[in-house]
Amino acid sequence: MNNEDATPNMRLAVNIDHIATLRNARNEGHPDPVEAALLAERSGAAGIVCHLREDRRHIKDNDLARLREAITTKLDLEMAMTDEMQRVALSVKPELVTLVPEKREELTTEGGFAIQKYFSHLAGFIKPLRDKEIGVSIFIEPEEESIALAAEAGANIVEFHTGTYSLRTGESEIAFELERIRSAARIAREAGLTVVAGHGLSVLNIAPFRELHDIEEVSIGHAIISRAVLIGLPTAIREIIDLIRR
Ligand code: PXP
Repeated sequence: MNNEDATPNMRLAVNIDHIATLRNARNEGHPDPVEAALLAERSGAAGIVCHLREDRRHIKDNDLARLREAITTKLDLEMAMTDEMQRVALSVKPELVTLVPEKREELTTEGGFAIQKYFSHLAGFIKPLRDKEIGVSIFIEPEEESIALAAEAGANIVEFHTGTYSLRTGESEIAFELERIRSAARIAREAGLTVVAGHGLSVLNIAPFRELHDIEEVSIGHAIISRAVLIGLPTAIREIIDLIRR
């Protein structure tokens, strides 16, 4: 198979964390992340992603259980490498776990997982998950050493952190980041890993990914949810006006 044919259709996984952020502003059940997940599936999403954080700031345990019941594509549980999260994953059995770094004070995931630092514990953490047929992805920087360590630890997927790419504004800097991602994706595929990319991707910066044939899937959250709010606003307003007109 040549490289052009490798990934004819890139898949989109939709992260619904920020539906829960909106819901939690009132804590009255709306908007429901499960309803959002089902809408995402009906709209073509190949998977649903959620991050169960230690502080449960958006997705809660009950959301995760309901998502597990409801969705029919695949559930990707983003989580920190902790004993608590390993227990949750083994009990909920998502199709896939993505290991991410997590700091309480951060607003969102900042950078890739420090795979060198935690490598000695990684294989032992991953094995029970893989034994239960849960796929394991590690969110890493697009660099060769991290890819090799992810494969050695028993992950079957790597997700490249695209936050740096998404923040670049100059043409040559963007091209440099894309080349870094392209070359890392090739190395990862050659190592037998499935390659995903995510963080900060949006309608403004996703188009060049069509040419990154070794990337099979992109994972997008904030930009889709925030755009949906604006795109949906006229309809939501018209609905109310129609209801209050005599
Ligand atoms: N992939 C991973 C591993 C993440 O932690 C996040 C953020 O939760 C995303 C993808 C999605 O990033 P964004 O919300 O910026 O699209």
